[in-house]
Amino acid sequence: MTRTHIREFHGDDLDQLVRLWGHVTRDADTPIYSLAEVIASCQADHAVVAVRGTEIVGAAVGRAAHAQGWIVFFGVDVPDEDGALHAALLDALERRMASLGLSKLSVLLPEDGVIDRFTDNSFAVHHAVRYLERDMPVQRRELEALKEVGGRILPRNLWRKVAGMTREKTLLEERLVTPLSRPDLAERFGVVPPRAVMLFGPPGTGKTTFARAVASRLDWPFVELFPSRLADGGGLAGALRSSFEAIGELEHAVVFIDEVEEIAAQRGGTPPSPTQGVTNELLKQVAEFRESEGKLLICATNFVRALDAAFLRHGRFDYVLPIGLPNADARRAIWGRYIPSDDAAGIDLDLLVGESDGLTPADIEYAARRASQEALARSLRDETDAGTGLSTADYVRALDNTRATVSPDAIAEFTDDIATLARL
Ligand SMILES: Nc1ncnc2c1ncn2[C@@H]1O[C@H](COP(=O)(O)OP(=O)(O)OP(=O)(O)O)[C@@H](O)[C@H]1O
Ligand SMILES: [Mg+2]
Repeated sequence: MTRTHIREFHGDDLDQLVRLWGHVTRDADTPIYSLAEVIASCQADHAVVAVRGTEIVGAAVGRAAHAQGWIVFFGVDVPDEDGALHAALLDALERRMASLGLSKLSVLLPEDGVIDRFTDNSFAVHHAVRYLERDMPVQRRELEALKEVGGRILPRNLWRKVAGMTREKTLLEERLVTPLSRPDLAERFGVVPPRAVMLFGPPGTGKTTFARAVASRLDWPFVELFPSRLADGGGLAGALRSSFEAIGELEHAVVFIDEVEEIAAQRGGTPPSPTQGVTNELLKQVAEFRESEGKLLICATNFVRALDAAFLRHGRFDYVLPIGLPNADARRAIWGRYIPSDDAAGIDLDLLVGESDGLTPADIEYAARRASQEALARSLRDETDAGTGLSTADYVRALDNTRATVSPDAIAEFTDDIATLARL
């Protein structure tokens, strides 16, 4: 019988190693380490093979993570009744990695995997562990494209941090998030996942906040395109085209264009306005963008009625959604964010929530900061007042001096726009 010997892995062994990996892992649901990872470790880390004649019949591949080593592949494809071959391979790998000064060598096996060969060789089983993994939202090959368009992964909790606004949240959850994050479910009910949506509403009502929250909820990278900054030197239309091209390289993305009326205002007029070419380009890009799956375009505007009619037509934007002033729950949460925690217990929050009806989040922030500033100034003027903090009266006074950004006229216009332009 041909002798089996153990030696280091060479580049020429790759074909045979891939075959061995396929054999050994054929019954595994999903191998913990992918073939790509195993090959990377063969090339860059530590690997030994068992050779019989010219055939590779076993392999052990390891990598070091600081002081702990991991076996990323271990397989023997010939009978080994007494376990001698397993022992020899493990021994060779350990010796190969000895110079790294590892304190531990670990291995993950499938639940029904045979562990005897490891326990025979001084490995101890830990029962009280579970294996968990998460697919990272951006894969390594996409990093370059993501950087090019200035995209990034947002914190995971932004959706939860949008306070109140339950009507808008439910709408976005049902119309956008669920069909996009669960395409199988959408297909089952014949729902076509949306590709592009328009958010409109008065300034400061949370359009940007919602766009970011949707990206966070989907766990997709967020790419904001700034029309005013795109045209760095070159033409805006060309810049728009190359941005969308780079976005095409990403598997998933929420693309956000704020103040889209700047580049998609009503066309027409003679001579044509200089932005007309840009509007045309954007229309073209939206149409192309719609063809690719797994991405969502969100546009936001304060002036939905100023948008080019072709832009809002069916077939471009799946939904045209109004985002209005914050409701009581949202106002409560926004107040809560700005009132110092030492003072919170003594403040009549219900009163402030009622008094701030009609204000935007930004208005509330302004009033809260103004109250803080005046209370600080007062405590500096009057030593006896130091340490008493803020009272409800401070906030009410600040509210009296805060003008609502959104005028009654603007609210009337918004209500009009909802009736004529919204598409839910
Ligand atoms: N539901 C909410 N809960 C808590 N904070 C909110 C909420 N909505 C908005 N905010 C806060 O209010 C501020 C203004 O919101 P945002 O920038 O999203 O408004 P916008 O509609 O995009 O405004 P603009 O039209 O001026 O672009 C932000 O600081 C945001 O964090
Ligand atoms: Mg905004």
